[in-house]
Amino acid sequence: MRHFIDLKDFSADTLQMILDHAQAMKQAQRVGAGHEQPLAGKTVAMIFEKPSTRTRVSFEVGIVQLGGTPLVLSAQDLQLGRGETIEDTARVLSCYVDAIMIRCFDHDMALNLAEHATVPVINALTNRSHPCQLMADLQTMIEYHGPLAGQTVAWLGDGNNVASSWVEAAALFGFQLRMACPHGYAPPAELLAWARAKGGNIILTEDVAEAVDRVQSVVTDVWVSMGQEGGSQQQDLAAYQVNEEVMKQAAGDAIFMHCLPAKRGLEVSAAVIDGPQSAVFDEAENRLHAQKAILAWCFAGE
Ligand code: CP
Ligand code: NVA
Repeated sequence: MRHFIDLKDFSADTLQMILDHAQAMKQAQRVGAGHEQPLAGKTVAMIFEKPSTRTRVSFEVGIVQLGGTPLVLSAQDLQLGRGETIEDTARVLSCYVDAIMIRCFDHDMALNLAEHATVPVINALTNRSHPCQLMADLQTMIEYHGPLAGQTVAWLGDGNNVASSWVEAAALFGFQLRMACPHGYAPPAELLAWARAKGGNIILTEDVAEAVDRVQSVVTDVWVSMGQEGGSQQQDLAAYQVNEEVMKQAAGDAIFMHCLPAKRGLEVSAAVIDGPQSAVFDEAENRLHAQKAILAWCFAGE
């Protein structure tokens, strides 16, 4: 069964193959060539416990382009929202649909879904990771700066779910990841240990200048992730904003990346996210192409 739960479940070769396919489909779309139809006659259920703009629309459109039928399901409208187990939900949905995409709070829910489903399961964000976002971001890095190995990336701010997927990507693809996170905001220690054991070049610092010095990509994300409202993040992370001063310390051809949605004036200044170095809408577009390649890979295993 070809699930897509976390980047660390894969070899770099497999992920690179998916990225190459994503790029080929993007080019084909650009020249108006017809879409491949690997999902012809297939239905994909999309379960959302949290809001979404990019993920929902890019998956829904991507499934249709590949010949399939998307079924968008809000968790509140499912019996899941009234306490039916994810295990039973997995077995039942597997009778009706050919793949399941899930965005949920608890990472274990996605893992349990994959364990009990008899169709492929795709992780579309949990509190622990966001692998589909990273596939789009890696595609964007390749477009701007070529092969991933040896590139340099700085992550500023909260070591959240997206940051964790960056750690996995850096370890797999051999690019340097310098993370500037204040005390208490680093990614999980066991994930950093896994990455370093794999030979990953991950630098963890509290110093923004150290992280961004001549770096090729500067990345951040919201300070308050979905479901984490009500803490002191805004004060704790105030010194980690990506602004023009920060971008000046990066390489001359550095790009700024953000998975979106963004809060201008908090984690990033308007001048940076709306400026010439911003690649945020390339990332957003690449969600469509990267996820189509992920879906095609899931079904190629049949
Ligand atoms: N980046 C991202 O996943 O955006 P949405 O929350 O809008 O899906
Ligand atoms: N870290 C953010 C990403 C949103 C796409 C969140 O989990 O809310």
